[in-house]
This record gives sequence, structure tokens and C-alpha cells, in this order.
Amino acid sequence: MNDRFKKAFIINFGCKLNQFEGEALKQALKGSGIEARIIHPSEIKGCDDGRALFIINTCTVTSKSDRKSRNAIYRVVGVKKKSDLLIVTGCYAQTDRMELESIEGVDLVLDNLQKPRISDIVNMYSYKAKSDVEDTPVVKESDIFSYTDPLDINRSRVFVKVQDGCDMRCSYCKIPLARGKSISRSYYDVVDYVKRIEELGYNEIVLTGINLGSYMYGGKDLAGLIEEILKNTRTIGIRLSSIEPMYFKKGLFDIIGDNRVAPHFHIPLQSGSDRILRAMRRPYTIERFVSIVDKIRESKPDVHIATDIIVGFPGETEIDFEKSCSLMEELRFSSVHVFKYSPRKGTEAYSHTNNVPEIVKSERSEVAHRMADRLNYEFRKNFEGKVRDAIIEKHEYGCIAVTDNYIKVLLKDSQKDCKPRMRVKVRIERVTSGQTTGEVVSVNRNMVNT
Ligand code: 5AD
Repeated sequence: MNDRFKKAFIINFGCKLNQFEGEALKQALKGSGIEARIIHPSEIKGCDDGRALFIINTCTVTSKSDRKSRNAIYRVVGVKKKSDLLIVTGCYAQTDRMELESIEGVDLVLDNLQKPRISDIVNMYSYKAKSDVEDTPVVKESDIFSYTDPLDINRSRVFVKVQDGCDMRCSYCKIPLARGKSISRSYYDVVDYVKRIEELGYNEIVLTGINLGSYMYGGKDLAGLIEEILKNTRTIGIRLSSIEPMYFKKGLFDIIGDNRVAPHFHIPLQSGSDRILRAMRRPYTIERFVSIVDKIRESKPDVHIATDIIVGFPGETEIDFEKSCSLMEELRFSSVHVFKYSPRKGTEAYSHTNNVPEIVKSERSEVAHRMADRLNYEFRKNFEGKVRDAIIEKHEYGCIAVTDNYIKVLLKDSQKDCKPRMRVKVRIERVTSGQTTGEVVSVNRNMVNT
């Protein structure tokens, strides 16, 4: 067989890092001449135009994530031609390979570690019959960072993967089983890469990892890494993805005070009850968490603070849940991701017997979601009439300016020609529960290089 794939459709699930790895797969396939696109599961359909490749990049954080990934697989199986190839990868593929391999129509299950070799693997399948492909190529550890480097010029900000894996053992969490031990990318490589990004005219990077706070390379922790980036670049802004509370120490507090570090942090709380935090094996107290938030607000008063909350962890009483709600209110989180506890095989909490009934979990989740929506509205409302730094993003529905403190401001139709990546000042004009609208008031000419 010598019949190359013409088109590839990638369906991503889960966290920012996984989505970004899906982007890297797209870029790699494009580099080898395949017309690759990221699509939403609802867009899955058969492809009449030559051999097609479908990649489902799965997530397994909760059983709902598994279900969503499986549904996408079934959809592809229902529409694919015999000559098409269905690859399943991502965290679910890493932890439950056999289960996914046994689904009829799945041609190949790939570990996260094999993502960097996607082009080679697809090439092998182009030139051989499916049954003749033996082992997939081996990947070097350093590749798991560099394969995410190819840039997509349509993107406004560049995700930089600096860490993977997690050594924590939170009693509910399956992710360490999927991502393995914590490893960090050389800070020399990170700095070189960020310098290149800056030269190309991008105005912002997002440092990402599975457990970003645990970054450690050659004696430098996350604060050390940020310091190196600031020292070796001129103006590019740094946004940080999720950082666990334990990593907020003096060095990090000092460095995040820098103006080039965006006033936007995601710090997973999980519960407002010390008793539940202990059962979750989260190594901090509520008192400590509150002091972290207070300290960040001292140096960055308009900061966006996002968090994750799990409702219905085994043994969570009504009082524990109320503590989570009142802490959400007290800390005025700008956004809250609410998760319904999902027992995951292989985790410590899986064997707990004091489970909260499903109906109670659903009720609590609804209450927490409503509160999250209100808090987010109140946060955005504070900035009505104010002007903030922002970066332009282009979407099918129009242009949005994403502010330094992560408010997505939809621009008027007349400003649709704003160029992506541009750094601007935006006036926030109207905030409603579902939307923020505004207007660009000036463009930072020095920094536009599109
Ligand atoms: N059930 C519900 N939520 C979970 N998370 C992780 N594991 C589980 C689970 N078993 C949530 C946590 C974490 C986020 C990425 O996913 O809130 O911060």
C-alpha cells in the first residue's frame, strides 16, 4: 500500500495542556503535508476526499471525561471508511489501553509519550497495511517538550510546555497514573524558545505543565525560571497556568509582582473544609490558602483568581459543602471550575465507602455553579467603564480583546479588522451575566509586529 493520508481531523478533550498537545499534533501533521484540522466532536463526519486520519486526544480526569472520549470514538467508528485510520491517544489511552484497543474500529492506541512521533507513525501507516506495522518508534525524553514548539501564526499567545507529570498523590486524582513522574524542561531551552517567540512579534506566553508549580531544573524552581525569562527578554508578557497552593513561597511571590507577569492565577482549592482537604491529601490548610490569595491581591489588586472545587468528595457533609461555598464568597474568586467528585480506579479514594449520593452531588454542583456564575459576573462588573491592557484574538464570531486579568471583551463589529496578537488598550463598556463588550481605545504601536 502506498496511499498517503490527505486529511486529518483531531478531536481534543480535557485540560489546556492536552488541547495544546493536540495543536502540536496538528502542526506536525501539517508539516508532513497532511491537511490537519481540529474539530469539535459534533463536527465528526465521514470524509470522501482520500484516506483520512482521525485522532481522538482523550482525557480521563473524571468518568464523564472517559464517556465523552468514548462517544467521540464511537462517532468516528460509525463514519470512517476501511482505509481511514483511527488513532486514540491522550490520558485515557495511557491508563486504559486494553479497554480502548478492544473497541472495534480503533486502529491504534498511542501513549502521550508517543505524541512527538506522530508524523513518523502516520507515515508508517501510509506505506504499509495496518496489520504490517510492528512497533511504533521510541521517543526520547527531551522530545516531549520540543514537539510542542512549532508555532501557529494564527494564535495570539503561545503556550510553552515546561513541565509534565505529577509526584503528588491527591487521593481522588488519576492524572499521576496517566502522566507519570514530574519532569521539567531545561530552562536554557525555554529561554531560547521564548526569545524566538518574542522576536517573531508575539506579545504573550503561557507557561504550562501538568503540575507547573513543581518545575525544577538545574536547581531552578518556577520562580527561577520566570526570572531567567524576564532577564533574557524585553517586553513579552508571561501568563501562568494552574499552580498548586503549596508552591506559593517567598521566591514566587516576589517574582509575580513583576509587571510583565499577568495578574491572573489559577490556584486549585478543591474544598473549603480542612477535614476534607486532609482526606483528599492536599498539603495545605484553608488559613494558608486565604493568606496566599491576600498576598497576591496586595501586589496585584485587580488580579483574576481562578480555582477548582470538587463537590461530593466521600464524607463531605452539608456543613463541609457550606464551608466551600462561604469560602468561594469570601475570597471572591473570579472564576470557579466546579467538578462533581468521580471515583477513579487506582486512586486512594476509590475504595472509600462513605460516598455522597449522586443526587446530593448534583444538587451541590448546581448550587456551586450558580455561585461561580455570579462571582464571575461580579468580578467583570468591577471593571465596567475602565481601560485595561489586552491582546487581540480572532474568532469566527468576531474579535475579542483578552485583558491582562483575563476578561474576554467582545469588540464592536466596526473593530473586526483588529489583527490577532496586537497589544491594545480596551475600554470595557458593558458587562452582562453572559458577556463583556467594549472598544479598543489605542494600539501599542511598538509592540505590533504582525
Ligand atoms: N473527581 C472530580 N474532579 C476531579 N479532579 C481531579 N480528579 C477528580 C475526580 N476524581 C478535578 C480537580 C482538579 C481538576 C483538574 O480536576 O478539581 O483540579
